Amino acid sequence: MSRLKVLSIFGTRPEAIKMAPLLKLMQEDPSFEAYICVTAQHREMLDQVLHLFRLKPHYDLDIMAPRQTLFQITCRALQGLEEVIDHCRPDLLLVHGDTTTTFAGALAAFYQGVPCGHVEAGLRTGNPRLPFPEEMNRRLTGSLSTLHFAPTARAKQNLLSEGTPAQNIFVTGNTVIDALQTTVRPDFSFEDNPRLARLLPELAADPGAKLLLVEAHRRENWGEPLASICRALLQLLQAYPRLQLVFPVHKNPVVRETAQKYLGSHPRAHLLEPLDTASFHNLMARAHLILTDSGGIQEEAPSLGKPVLVLRRLTERPEAVQAGTVKLVGTAQEDIFSATARLLDDPAAYRAMARAVNPYGDGRASQRILQAIRHHFGQAPRPKDFNPSRRP
Ligand code: UD1
Ligand code: UDP
Repeated sequence: MSRLKVLSIFGTRPEAIKMAPLLKLMQEDPSFEAYICVTAQHREMLDQVLHLFRLKPHYDLDIMAPRQTLFQITCRALQGLEEVIDHCRPDLLLVHGDTTTTFAGALAAFYQGVPCGHVEAGLRTGNPRLPFPEEMNRRLTGSLSTLHFAPTARAKQNLLSEGTPAQNIFVTGNTVIDALQTTVRPDFSFEDNPRLARLLPELAADPGAKLLLVEAHRRENWGEPLASICRALLQLLQAYPRLQLVFPVHKNPVVRETAQKYLGSHPRAHLLEPLDTASFHNLMARAHLILTDSGGIQEEAPSLGKPVLVLRRLTERPEAVQAGTVKLVGTAQEDIFSATARLLDDPAAYRAMARAVNPYGDGRASQRILQAIRHHFGQAPRPKDFNPSRRP
């Protein structure tokens, strides 16, 4: 049997984290020849993940520019990818999720006549502009792709309702849970980060102290919504003298300016550089509560039993909301303050949300995706769909 040549294209931190377990498995599997192309839409935040998972790209377009626009990312990625696909001539191209790299990768595959597989397919809010531009990126990527690896049954349903052929949709679970299972350890050491190495033992020694972990960066929250989030955090720090806030701030200068302006001088607001993923996952495991507008964190925290308040009005990840471990609170200062205060003050309300649930995966998503690819090329039976109510 000839080996399947698969070119994976990604460019940002979340894509890299979620493609890493799949790529590691593909590199060990004799059925595949695995090639990696990074657009490097992110640079430092991407390199952190490549380093952690020991992934070496075969192609690096190095497109990141400070304060880049969507036009710049799309044009530079698309132009670079023409040559890469020409050179690599893969049997299949893989993209992940909903970034501008994802969309450019799927469009480049289409222009080059190479079938495209979309990992984390079928997520929808139903509002084409929310989140912006991710909802449109994922819809367009879906239209351009042949194979659709939907993390959940609901994502599959979204694709079916848009007319995607059922035989091309595989419910696999989310590869982020595969990644999480390799990173979280009870004896994890934070010695690479002196501030955390000092703070965490202090927190462990004080039963009344609580760690609030925050991550926010979404484009639609830039400006006043992010300022309002930061004001709510400041109000919480003032109201709860034993609360410690840890906010690893995204490299985006727009986000950094606002976070610094409101929280930079508060002694219990720890604004850190983006953490490497193993540190971030282990910090989530030690946090009391998480506030975020990030997509990936909404998927990871429930499986660690951590309540999440989502700083958005809509989510494309409703499964954990339904399970009761994630709540949408939006970006209004008073709503964030009151929802957080309730979880800090009311142990019953906290316990009701702090349950470990796994709607997004069982750690075997990568395995199912590889089998689905082999199935598509006539080399394996169709994999069984991921079903969260079935034990692995
Ligand atoms: C991008 C994705 C978003 C995803 C997010 C994950 C798009 C349009 N947006 O948003 O879907 O949720 O990544 O984090 O695809 N920067 C650095 N170093 C880095 C990364 C970013 O300096 O390693 C700075 C640069 O100034 C860059 C800016 O951040 O221009 C914005 O990066 P960009 O990828 O355009 O947008 P994100 O907000 O990161
Ligand atoms: N993450 C990380 N370091 C940090 C903050 C987050 O490694 O300092 C991880 C997090 O665990 C999750 C992913 O980054 O796996 C989410 O990426 P991001 O929030 O940038 O993008 P989104 O998921 O919103 O697209």
